[in-house]
Amino acid sequence: MKQYTRKTIKYYESIADKYAKSDAAVVLTDKIDIFAKLLSGKKILDAACGPGHDTDYLTKRGFDCLGIDLSEKMINIAKHNFKGKYKIMDFLNLKFRNNSFDGIWCSSILVHVQKKDLPKLLKNSWKILKNNGLVGIITAAKQKRVPGNSDTRTYVMHSKKELKDYLTNNGFNVLVSKIFFYGGRKRIFIIVKKI
Ligand SMILES: C[S@@+](CC[C@H](N)C(=O)[O-])C[C@H]1O[C@@H](n2cnc3c(N)ncnc32)[C@H](O)[C@@H]1O
Repeated sequence: MKQYTRKTIKYYESIADKYAKSDAAVVLTDKIDIFAKLLSGKKILDAACGPGHDTDYLTKRGFDCLGIDLSEKMINIAKHNFKGKYKIMDFLNLKFRNNSFDGIWCSSILVHVQKKDLPKLLKNSWKILKNNGLVGIITAAKQKRVPGNSDTRTYVMHSKKELKDYLTNNGFNVLVSKIFFYGGRKRIFIIVKKI
């Protein structure tokens, strides 16, 4: 695990219970439904699933969804609250066969990945996706942010154009790209297809 990821996970371990009960752990059904409708198969990876609310939503919608996260506490909360499949795994070090998923759902995780690691993460995501597989992304748009004193998370924000460029330069076609606001923050919603 990267050193900056370790610090991010340490913070999530300390707030996991609070996070699971907060508005941050609410399923953004309008966004996830758009992603779900565009998928051409049932097998989905919920990357950095946190307390598992999105994995559970997709599982209940009939998808074969696996939630992965590096925080043991988050995974334990998910397993305690929901029936779905959950596993501790690093999104920066995926352990799956090539061509094994129809979609990867990435809600509020790219914000914790340093820009220098994004091309490798996208290449690895591309590999584990089947042909025409999709990646659905919700992430923080560029804006002012004042972190709390105890906040040890890496927090990376992108402009919509910058993120689209990363994706198109790493083998994806952009299908949907929108800016929206949730929880007082400006966010980017993007869906891309493996080409
Ligand atoms: C803001 S939460 C998002 C949780 C959930 N996806 C959601 O939308 O509410 C970020 C999550 O990313 C996890 N995380 C951070 N870096 C990770 C990595 N490299 N691999 C797997 N999980 C990671 C944290 O443990 C945390 O649960």
